[in-house]
Amino acid sequence: MTTPTEAAAEGVIHLRAAGVSLVLDLRGNGLPAVLHWGTDLGDLSRQDLHRLAEAVTMLPIAAFPDAVPRAALLPEHGTGWPGQPGLTGHRQGADWSPLFTRDSLELETAAQSVKVRATDAAARLSLVLEAGLTASGLVRMRAAVRNDDPDRDYTLNGLLLTLPVPDTATELLDLTGRWCRERAPQRRSFTHGTWLRETRSGRTGHDAPLVLAAGTPGFGFGTGEVWGLHLAWSGNHRVLAERLPTGRPVIAAGELLLPGEVILGPGEEYTGPWLYASHSGQGLDGLSARFHDHLRSRPGHPNRPRPVVLNTWEAVYFDHDLDRLTHLADRGAEVGVERFVLDDGWFRHRRDDRAGLGDWYVDETVWPTGLHPLIDHVRGLGMEFGLWVEPEMVNPDSDLARVHPEWILATGGRTPADRRSQQVLDLTHPEAYAHILQRLDALLSEYDIAYLKWDHNRELVDAGHAPGGEPAVHAQTLAVYALLDDLRRRHPGLEIESCASGGGRVDLAILERTDRVWASDCNDALERQSINRWTQLLLPPELIGSHVGAARSHTTGRTHDLAFRAGTAIFGHLGIEWDLTRTTETERAELAHWITLYKQLRGLLHTGRVVRIDHPDPALWAHGVIPHDRTEAIFALTAMATPISAQPGTLRLRGLDPDATYRLRPLPPADQAPGMERGTPAWCTKGGITLPGTVLEHVGIQIPNLHPEQLLLLRLAKA
Ligand code: GLA
Repeated sequence: MTTPTEAAAEGVIHLRAAGVSLVLDLRGNGLPAVLHWGTDLGDLSRQDLHRLAEAVTMLPIAAFPDAVPRAALLPEHGTGWPGQPGLTGHRQGADWSPLFTRDSLELETAAQSVKVRATDAAARLSLVLEAGLTASGLVRMRAAVRNDDPDRDYTLNGLLLTLPVPDTATELLDLTGRWCRERAPQRRSFTHGTWLRETRSGRTGHDAPLVLAAGTPGFGFGTGEVWGLHLAWSGNHRVLAERLPTGRPVIAAGELLLPGEVILGPGEEYTGPWLYASHSGQGLDGLSARFHDHLRSRPGHPNRPRPVVLNTWEAVYFDHDLDRLTHLADRGAEVGVERFVLDDGWFRHRRDDRAGLGDWYVDETVWPTGLHPLIDHVRGLGMEFGLWVEPEMVNPDSDLARVHPEWILATGGRTPADRRSQQVLDLTHPEAYAHILQRLDALLSEYDIAYLKWDHNRELVDAGHAPGGEPAVHAQTLAVYALLDDLRRRHPGLEIESCASGGGRVDLAILERTDRVWASDCNDALERQSINRWTQLLLPPELIGSHVGAARSHTTGRTHDLAFRAGTAIFGHLGIEWDLTRTTETERAELAHWITLYKQLRGLLHTGRVVRIDHPDPALWAHGVIPHDRTEAIFALTAMATPISAQPGTLRLRGLDPDATYRLRPLPPADQAPGMERGTPAWCTKGGITLPGTVLEHVGIQIPNLHPEQLLLLRLAKA
């Protein structure tokens, strides 16, 4: 095989991993450009690579530069690149169009990555660009820029990393959303122009694109060729797809910097976030699998079974009462709960959501002897204890805000408008940071706390440093990362959940320092089918908190039976968010059954490959998890609404071993659908049915008559 070093001699580098090739053009002395990102090209010789580069060289066209600008990872306006430039900034109007010359190139053969250093002597700027493939075949890259001027500042406006996609990628998909309706997909044609998604809320956002994907016409979960990117950043960001008549179509992303937010003094440097990009020749499932495999390969990935959670929020809200909570804990332990999480309402002055944030002391009026009686009780029942916190926030009605009004992020000489009666604490203020770290550290040291639910309920609007009001989102985002890192260093083993009014902070940078996300405040299983499905575009199921709520959803008012609620929730990191003290014995017995099933299946569900089926009827959804050895599989067939056809046809199960024969049977407790009174398919009978993998994939099984908002679980095992 040609090593990257040999290939570099020809000016073309071929990186390969897990079925992906990334061919970079380093001929000349400019920044690297992508010649191919996609399917593995096999072992190409130096001559092959050189000819590949020649074969795809763009032609000079009328009214365009004689040297056609290449699709560089950081495109430069100065080359004549017609689209969004990679680096934007200036020195009071000067040095705004840099053109870099490469100084050095380092190749890491083992890591399949390159590091390029480049300078623009005239603009007095230097650049470091890192790009490579992870073991799971994800492109991973980032850039840093330094101000080399000994005297003058450089105002950085943005650093945008760019990847070209083939012209055949004519459709775009990304996600949007809002509170309780996170990660809704939207599609459009990838035509000329720029499709720009910006997040200015100072956090990843309920409406974040999560992944921006471009693909061949009609790409689905199992079909089509698709290229998608994700920016690992929890602050403001820009993600775009751009196709211009004069250049290659590209997808790109970078941090969104507020005016004057990053001004580099002499010698100062800015490093942008990591960008991750995934290619798949087999639809979105293949794209997700690379993200999932990458996350699972991290040394810090949660590696013990994901414990069943009981969260108190929708059970008691702010009604914190020791007897009520110990009773709830008893009921939880009875049904098999393993981690009891005390949500909002335990700290000083917090009798509702209008006061107390910032006063991180256990409220003496509600808890005269501290949290010890509750924690001792929970631990005595064999469960872990978890606690809700919202460290980045402060209520104006709190002791902290009264003593330190200067610790509130503000600009324009005014206090920003309240949201949920709260403001954002300036964690870039060293004393504010030290205070919050000390409070959290003290709580974690005094109490036996295994888990924090870390919330973030206010967008960063008007977020400036007092007294001048300079923009603070960038520095605040880094300060939050530092705070999480500090705490985890001090308390090894502590697990943290990333919550932001539900699923407002879901990204790969926050997940470097947290162990799961709270995907949504919506526990309505119908909504969660969709929220979980699309959160899985990026995250594997074990990182997605998914709870069984009360029969009647608190956020939508819909009512669902337990099989639908639990059968939906077990495909994530399972929890309960329901007042079990007000349930019947029958309900608790059924819930216990589901929890037992989850415990049996979590080893598979949290390591296997996620499959989402494209069914032509939008009412019928199916998804499953298949372990890598494909000896078994778990699927759920869900009626999201009433199917359009009386005969909805067959369900074809993808991802199985075509050479194996499987025994397929419905899995209790979700093995009966009311509609089956009108006729039961052969495979739904007790013994199930035995079929070859090829038949299951290419012929399928008859779909039974399901009522809307009903699901059936299917278990397959090699016969
Ligand atoms: C946010 C979270 C909820 C809950 C409340 C508590 O809205 O998303 O899950 O913790 O705060 O105030």
